[in-house]
Order: sequence, then structure tokens, then C-alpha cells
Amino acid sequence: MNRVPYTEDHDLSQIKSLDELKEMALACRRCNLRAECTNVVFGEGNPTAGLMLIGEGPGAEEDRLGKPFAGKAGQLLDQILGAVDLDRYEHTYIANVVKCRPPGNRVPRPEEARRCLPWLYRQIELLSPALIVLLGSTALQNLVDPQARITKMRGQWLHSKSGIKIMPTYHPAALLRDPGKKRPVWEDFQMIRDEYLKINNR
Ligand code: URA
Repeated sequence: MNRVPYTEDHDLSQIKSLDELKEMALACRRCNLRAECTNVVFGEGNPTAGLMLIGEGPGAEEDRLGKPFAGKAGQLLDQILGAVDLDRYEHTYIANVVKCRPPGNRVPRPEEARRCLPWLYRQIELLSPALIVLLGSTALQNLVDPQARITKMRGQWLHSKSGIKIMPTYHPAALLRDPGKKRPVWEDFQMIRDEYLKINNR
């Protein structure tokens, strides 16, 4: 397929496959982040897993490799998943609010997120996960409520209009800064694993 630059008026509901969506996202120039990054980090994992994890945006390592959660926070995420017998490639699909690295790892600006989110929304529609885990406040605020506080909302199941169960929890990078957050995140992931086993009838 030719890489058609994605403009505001593209109707992404016409895109019927994840591969096609990825191809288009890789050609996106909707905000200035693309000019400064190396790779568009579209997302990866098992598209049929039923469990989607959503982070904030790529950092340096993710940008270099074109893969989500490839750096220190990613290693910790793998450990957290491993502690509840989940494997990122087998049991999850991972994506971010923005697909291009904000310079210096700053939080994506609202306008950058607004321009990028249609990719994520269509990705969610195509993957149709039963469960979504929002990693940190950027994911929570962009996908649920701009005023929401992760400290208040983490560890509770929310329900989307389309029936997806959504669990906000702390971002792994927050655990690296504050190890006191490890315990609540571990408890959250136990709930996530229990729900995952239920949806997969195990
Ligand atoms: N932090 C994120 O939010 N996403 C990544 O992919 C890596 C680090």
C-alpha cells in the first residue's frame, strides 16, 4: 500500500486491519513530534490477547528500536507482568497515547495527544480488547478524564461505553522513582490477571 500521509480529514473507520493502520501511522505528519523522532512506535504484542496496555509515549530507547516499553520502565513492566504469570508478547498488546517521542521525554502536549489519539482509538476498535490497563496519569487523563487523578483512580475497574473494562494503575517509571508504589501496582495486576483468566475461561 502507498503511504498516504494522514491528514485531519482521513476517516480511520475505513481502515479495516491493524497492518494497514500501522502503515498509515508510520507516514503520519499530523504534529511536530515526527520531525524530531527516529521511529513511530505503533505498538506491538498479541492482537488477539484481549488485554491492552496503554502508556504515555516512547522514550529514547523506544524511539531507537521502534518498540514500546523497551527501556528501563519496560524491563520493570515485564517483571510486573511476570510476577502475575503474564507475558507481554503472549498475553498483551502494548501501545501509547502518542506514537512519536516527545523531545527530552516530556509529557505530550494536549494538542499532540489530540492529533495522535485517532490512531489509538482505531487501534482499540480493531483489537477489541476485553480489558485495558492505563499506565499512568497521561493515559488516564487522555482516555478517561483530563481532571482524573491516578492516585485516586488506580486499582478500580472502569467501564467504557462499548463494554471494555479499564484499570488505571501507576506507570512503571513512577515505580522506579518511588518503590513504595510497587505494592499497589502488584495488587492491581493481580486483579488484572484474575479478570484476564476469567475472560479467557481458564
Ligand atoms: N513509557 C511509556 O509510557 N511508553 C513507552 O513505550 C515507554 C516508556
